[in-house]
Amino acid sequence: MSRVTMAEHAGFCYGVKRAVEMAEQAAASGKRCVMLGSLIHNDSVVRHLESMGLTSVSRPEEVPEGAAVIIRSHGEPRAVHEALRARGEILDATCPNVSRIHRIVAEAEQAGRQPVIIGTPNHPEITAIAGWCAHPVVLENAEALEKWLEKEPENRGKPLTLVSQTTAARKSWDLCVEKAKKECTNLKVFDTICSATCKRQEAAQALAAQSDAMIVIGDRKSSNTRRLAELCAALCPQVLWIERAEDLEPSNLYGKASIGITAGASTPGWIIKEVYDKMSDEIM
Ligand code: F3S
Repeated sequence: MSRVTMAEHAGFCYGVKRAVEMAEQAAASGKRCVMLGSLIHNDSVVRHLESMGLTSVSRPEEVPEGAAVIIRSHGEPRAVHEALRARGEILDATCPNVSRIHRIVAEAEQAGRQPVIIGTPNHPEITAIAGWCAHPVVLENAEALEKWLEKEPENRGKPLTLVSQTTAARKSWDLCVEKAKKECTNLKVFDTICSATCKRQEAAQALAAQSDAMIVIGDRKSSNTRRLAELCAALCPQVLWIERAEDLEPSNLYGKASIGITAGASTPGWIIKEVYDKMSDEIM
């Protein structure tokens, strides 16, 4: 018999829930509507929306004449907004926390400051944030920040505005802020890590620390799920990262007295329930 515990704050965050509900409402209204890119990082959810009649396009030029377009929760660069606005109606499902970062970097640049974006360079959220300034600097972590400051020492005296990817690990961001505060003379720091991310990570870590195994549910493309898996792996001897219930091989968990479950921000409740039910049937 194993004890299975669900972490608090697992699954859809506010921004993802809002985006999915906007898309569902658009589909239910019967209006012609397409999604630009993956609405959220979860293929099961995207397939569910497609089954309701929405289609996906990958570029603004592919939006059919007269169709409304839904902008994903990660947001899009300013140029994409402008191209879409010229074509027709926009349903902006960008998470409000992400839109706030767009405003911060755009206003910073307008005020003559250099936006410095701390995050994974090719992640769609970071590409979108960078796309709200003309000359963004994107740095992955404190090491990259250090190299940037060493390579061009004059950067230390520039007016810098530091923002973070919403899903960054707190420790990594804190190191960046510490370094920047120590070395830069004209610095503004905006802590833009999302509190939903912090709460999910803290709850997962607390559970991982008292579990023999952790199941982390989330799409392989989801960077917040990857971070959850990494954080749990530092505290728990066995971590299984699965996308859905079919991926779970119960025999991998036989003999574990305590098993924890958490899920990334793009994992819908129905997938979490399927995993929990499978665990109940086969392990508990
Ligand atoms: Fe928004 Fe935070 Fe979710 S930034 S999309 S509420 S993880």
